[in-house]
Amino acid sequence: MSKLTSSPAWQALKAHHAAIEPVQMRRMFQDDPARFGKFSLQLGELLLDYSKNRINGETIKLLVALAEQAGLPACIGRMFGGKKINFTERRAALHTALRNRSGHPVYVDGKDVMPEVRRILELMRRFSDAVRNGRHVGHTGKDICDIVNIGIGGSDLGPLMACEALKPYASPKLSAHFVSNVDGAHLAETLKKLDAETTLFIISSKTFTTQETLTNARSARAWLVEKLGDEQAVAKHFAAVSTNLDATAQFGIHPENVFGFWDWVGGRYSLWSAIGLPIALYVGMDRFEELLGGACAVDEHFRSAPLEKNIPVLLGLLGVWYGNFFGACSNAVFPYDQSLHRFPAYLQQLEMESNGKRVDRDGNTVDYDTGMVMWGEPGTNGQHAFYQLLHQGTRLIPADFLAPLHSHNPAGEHHAILLANCFAQSEALMLGKTAEEARAELAAQGLHGEALETLLPHKVFPGNRPTNTLLFDRLDPHTLGMLIALYEHKVFVQGVVWNINSFDQWGVELGKQLAGKILPELSDAAMASKHDASTGGLIDHFRKHV
Ligand code: F6P
Repeated sequence: MSKLTSSPAWQALKAHHAAIEPVQMRRMFQDDPARFGKFSLQLGELLLDYSKNRINGETIKLLVALAEQAGLPACIGRMFGGKKINFTERRAALHTALRNRSGHPVYVDGKDVMPEVRRILELMRRFSDAVRNGRHVGHTGKDICDIVNIGIGGSDLGPLMACEALKPYASPKLSAHFVSNVDGAHLAETLKKLDAETTLFIISSKTFTTQETLTNARSARAWLVEKLGDEQAVAKHFAAVSTNLDATAQFGIHPENVFGFWDWVGGRYSLWSAIGLPIALYVGMDRFEELLGGACAVDEHFRSAPLEKNIPVLLGLLGVWYGNFFGACSNAVFPYDQSLHRFPAYLQQLEMESNGKRVDRDGNTVDYDTGMVMWGEPGTNGQHAFYQLLHQGTRLIPADFLAPLHSHNPAGEHHAILLANCFAQSEALMLGKTAEEARAELAAQGLHGEALETLLPHKVFPGNRPTNTLLFDRLDPHTLGMLIALYEHKVFVQGVVWNINSFDQWGVELGKQLAGKILPELSDAAMASKHDASTGGLIDHFRKHV
């Protein structure tokens, strides 16, 4: 048994789980009318209702004891303090410095990083203002109308998700496009709609070595030069965001259009850095800074609120509760806000790349589950697709519901219908429908005897399915910043409890290495390929048919 699973806090939770497992939440609500007040928290304009969870006061005490046993408060201090908590890469994880609005210094290796952070923010402001107000024009003197971000993973998902979420704030003169997939269709279909004279490409890559991004960047460059008939056009139509300034220079990006960041910013935590440049261009730098402000407000809450009143801590611990004690394997997120339609995809990288780890910080194979599968779609669409499994399937899938009180697009009853559905789903998941209730309903519909009995089991909902609901005023940049930071810190809390490094991603390397080996074999039929029979067979099939 590992130190964690044999620990007093873990064992206490195990015993508590046995006691709480048979208890129905509907019973908990009947017994305690004050349950919502006890298990909900407000942070600024954000409300977290976590009362529809299979918990009582004792559960929270025990989960907090687990976090304390793991040394969470000290770990939070180490992260904010710039310690090299990403020890396998010997790096700090200081995305919080990027949105530090306090004026206080943040040190890495004894050096305050804040002056550099502010310098890059200022460069972003100058560049985004210049593009937005027509001071930075294309090679032929035309205003920039289309921004194409070329990047993948953290250099794509965050800015893409945020630009989609903040559309109501976007400049009507600009469109933002995102090309990530090395499948040539992604770039080709995007370019089809664009005019080279008015297009600005941003090549976003922390390392500037990522195969997909560089392949797309080279093709985009060839397209631009071909369309404008001049190599010099690259200077006005390409910008880059990277920590690898030698590589951006080698690619030929004009130094004035290069925005640096630092190795202490993890890829999936990088939208707060210059990787957020497409966001700044699209909605303006003031709005981008509001996004940073929202994250900063959550950072302050995370580092100062007591653990039992700390929203990211509670979200993280509830995930541990279901993942490790109830055996849940996946975690869903349902934004009842169409503009958050890429939020689940963004969270997928955040959660699964961070906590998909099977050895602890000491290199021991863990004997407990770590990161859950994260997935989701906007409501109400999901209701007509996969909610069936949530309501009546065999698996327990804890879910987060997110919804704004106000819509950016108020139209008749749309928003009321949207929210009625959101509230109804979490209610239905919690309450379920007993056999007695289903029987009464069927009888009221005129069914009796065998017909009723045959249908009855299909009409029962077990309920007791846990959810959190996060409500906010409206999805503005500040609120979006808050939401993202909440999930970032949730992931951190879980990583601390599981004693894993949430900031490296060695698991993505093997596939990259093997793709590098296979690529030349695809085009050179004479090349001997040494693979297992399946991979060899696939390569042969490709060679024969292409
Ligand atoms: O392959 C995974 C990964 O390293 C992610 O962690 C990262 O966000 C993505 O690739 C892109 O990397 P880069 O920004 O260096 O191109």
